[in-house]
Amino acid sequence: MLSLTIPRVALRAAAPQRQFAAAGLRFASTKTLTEAVAEVIPQKQEQLKKLKADFADRSLGEVKVSNLLGGMRGLKVMLWEGSVLDAETGITFHGKTIPDCEKVLPTAKDVGQPGKEMLPESMLWLLLTGNVPSAEEAKQLSAELASKGKLPAYLEKIIDSFPKSLHPMTQFASAVGALNHDSAFAAAYTKGIKKAEYWKPTLEDSIDLIAKLPAIAARIYYNVFGRGDGSQAIDQSKDLIGNYAEMIGYGGNEGLTDYLRLYIAIHGDHEGGNVSAHTAHLVGSALSDPYLSYSAALLGLAGPLHGLANQEVLGWALGMQDKVGKNPTDDQVKEYLWSTLKSGRVVPGYGHAVLRRPDPRFSALSRFCDTRPELKESALVQLVQQVSNIAPIVLKEHGKTANPFPNVDAASGCVLYEYGMSEFKYYTVIFGISRAIGALPQLVMDRALGLPIERPKSMSMNALEALLKK
Ligand SMILES: CC(C)(COP(=O)(O)OP(=O)(O)OC[C@H]1O[C@@H](n2cnc3c(N)ncnc32)[C@H](O)[C@@H]1OP(=O)(O)O)[C@@H](O)C(=O)NCCC(=O)NCCS
Repeated sequence: MLSLTIPRVALRAAAPQRQFAAAGLRFASTKTLTEAVAEVIPQKQEQLKKLKADFADRSLGEVKVSNLLGGMRGLKVMLWEGSVLDAETGITFHGKTIPDCEKVLPTAKDVGQPGKEMLPESMLWLLLTGNVPSAEEAKQLSAELASKGKLPAYLEKIIDSFPKSLHPMTQFASAVGALNHDSAFAAAYTKGIKKAEYWKPTLEDSIDLIAKLPAIAARIYYNVFGRGDGSQAIDQSKDLIGNYAEMIGYGGNEGLTDYLRLYIAIHGDHEGGNVSAHTAHLVGSALSDPYLSYSAALLGLAGPLHGLANQEVLGWALGMQDKVGKNPTDDQVKEYLWSTLKSGRVVPGYGHAVLRRPDPRFSALSRFCDTRPELKESALVQLVQQVSNIAPIVLKEHGKTANPFPNVDAASGCVLYEYGMSEFKYYTVIFGISRAIGALPQLVMDRALGLPIERPKSMSMNALEALLKK
């Protein structure tokens, strides 16, 4: 696996020393996230105005029948500010690769928490503003999220009323949708807020929702699997994931807590066309509030070809270990891969609609495994690595898959399992905590830029034939 030594910023020696205000929420001379967003919005609005004025009629390529019939692959038809996905080099967040982010974004250590990985708070700040926060800004954002993390009593009752047998993702999406009861955007819209101001309550709701996702997820975990203590006690001095790990009963597990930070930071955004991100944008374009928009996104994330794949990978890998033992030979792995393909199933964790190389998120998780002695020795983690060497050869020979390499799901669930979180059905909920830090910033930007309702043109086959025969 990849073994990288990542230099850390260690509270950014070059940054000016700032005083942490007694209130605990505000560093003197440190911007809040809302202030930082307000600063970048005028530049973004100006950039859009210029693009419209200078290039509105320029073509970005033709639309072929294969695009219409092929899930709109490759069509450049969406604006998405936070990240760009290149088929060869993978994801960049405002131009920064994952290794760049690992170098510059404030980590747990930088804000005085046990652990070394970058904070999802830092990634959220980067995605929303395009800028790297200082350690003090990240810490202040953690405190803001902690102060908003508690669930209202009505929501706790709703979550507690779900049958245990209801899939955790269905519970998660329903609970998130129910929070629209308190939406600042919906209330402001009813009162007649001006269009230019839409982004403000959208940001307010988005921060509120991101703050509450861990508590919702933890309550579902407790209700369905009986783990954690069922309470949402939030420690104002901890980061978002430090609190989440505590709520789900893994507070003392530094390895898992740090893994969750990395996992949630790098799963946040993967440009706009994937099902969950696109759904949030589409539903939001009807001016549905952030809770409704993100609830819809979660339902898309729950599909086996999207977020549910990490759960599928684990089931697949454990199935192999059951069949041929914990330490299969390369030939046994090959045979298992072929039996999957011959039965007409996909190999979960492999392939991608855009990427044509191994997923850099998979490499980042592999690097994490390499640095943790408790994972390095694990038969399951070693199997993930072994499969990542063999599956591309088999998939190439099979000849169908455009990208035979591992995607992030090839490793993500297996590491959770190794850390003792054995409830597969819960894994996509963790992905769901993460995807909010990419999808919601875009919703704020959609409103700041005044983007219109999304309404592509569809055609029936008859209409298409008639058009093509003209
Ligand atoms: C991610 C995924 C949905 C992308 O789909 P896509 O853009 O249509 O992928 P491709 O263009 O490579 O698909 C071409 C063919 O290869 C097949 N294929 C793609 N990935 C495959 C895999 N991992 N195993 C077997 N076959 C695969 C497709 O099913 C398709 O077959 P079809 O023509 O019979 O329908 C697909 O690769 C997949 O199903 N992967 C497994 C699930 C997964 O890991 N999802 C998480 C993605 S982050």
